[in-house]
Amino acid sequence: VFNNIKYPLDDPPLKFEVIARFGKARASKLTLPHHCCTTPMFMPVGTQGTVKGLTSQQLVDLNCGVVLGNTYHLGHRPGPEVMDAVGGLHKFMNYPRAMLTDSGGFQMVSLLQLAEITEQGVQFQSPHDGSTMILTPELSMQIQNSIGADIMMALDDVVSSTTVGPRVEEAMYRTLRWIDRCIQAHKKPESQNIFAIVQGGLDSRLRTICMEGLIQRNFPGYAIGGLSGGESKDMFWRVVHQCTSQLPDNKPRYLMGVGYALDLVVCSALGVDMFDCVFPSRTARFGSALVPSGSLNLKSSEYAYDFTPIDSECPCMVCKNYTRAYLHIVAGKEAIGGQLITYHNIQYQMSLMNQIREAIINQNFPEFVKSFIKKQYPNSD
Ligand code: GUN
Ligand code: ZN
Repeated sequence: VFNNIKYPLDDPPLKFEVIARFGKARASKLTLPHHCCTTPMFMPVGTQGTVKGLTSQQLVDLNCGVVLGNTYHLGHRPGPEVMDAVGGLHKFMNYPRAMLTDSGGFQMVSLLQLAEITEQGVQFQSPHDGSTMILTPELSMQIQNSIGADIMMALDDVVSSTTVGPRVEEAMYRTLRWIDRCIQAHKKPESQNIFAIVQGGLDSRLRTICMEGLIQRNFPGYAIGGLSGGESKDMFWRVVHQCTSQLPDNKPRYLMGVGYALDLVVCSALGVDMFDCVFPSRTARFGSALVPSGSLNLKSSEYAYDFTPIDSECPCMVCKNYTRAYLHIVAGKEAIGGQLITYHNIQYQMSLMNQIREAIINQNFPEFVKSFIKKQYPNSD
């Protein structure tokens, strides 16, 4: 797996400028083809060309820099033909800002238990017609080139973080072999960036081998994959710390599938720049609103006569216009309940990332962390 294949451009369509540091944490300006973003940042997850419950205009109002799309879902519906005909997902969604697409394998393995990994790719039974399909690195890149996102993720072989034994090593080496097929299949290096994904489970030796192999290929950015799948917090933070210590300082680092408030704070401190997670939008659909003290289950009858907003400090459209008592009636039932709480929860994530960023810039990160912890865990010392 150590050969001379390199990423095709030294000067990809991405600029990463660190503007402030505190310890390992960085605040940066990340310029992508469709938007100039600030980091650390949280990226809401859309699947079928929509962040469930939000319009593209609302995503802009919330000041989201990057929205995620998914190759597995979009590859099915509307499919690359429609995507090519309309000129990409930005136009299709009428979303003017930056987008990132995940490569699809992770979703197939996690959603469809039917998926089987071979050297060729991720093989699965189509849920639509039962036929056998195979998502190869080449096909993933081809679909992602049609979607046209600012950042495309390489197809990786993902195993659950609780897997042990030779399968973890096999998946890491396969991820390294697939990376060269991704590079060679990339048809739009002038307008789209590939991020490589570090695998290797909880094994520091395997993580190091993976990072060495990826770094010598000189990608525009790197992601840390294979985490947040049931491992202990201690192991999770240990692996993140190892990866952020060994990945290049001058490239963006993206921790995949992580979005709980505490993890955003801790992993930003460890030098992660980008995060995504379905948690804030999914939990909203179940009636749960994120607040500085944790979360409110708005379905609970304790809010039936509570005529205050979700969070009186929150500047969002929902907190300005709706009470907990109103949301209690629609939460978990009416579509508007999920939509309103999702809107607030994404605002919560955006505000939290802004606070982290300000604390790095203003050099008061420890004070910020202390007050954050005190609000979330009032009985801790
Ligand atoms: N989403 C969350 N974790 C992962 C991962 O390890 N790989 C990919 N491709 N997507 C993810
Ligand atoms: Zn709000």
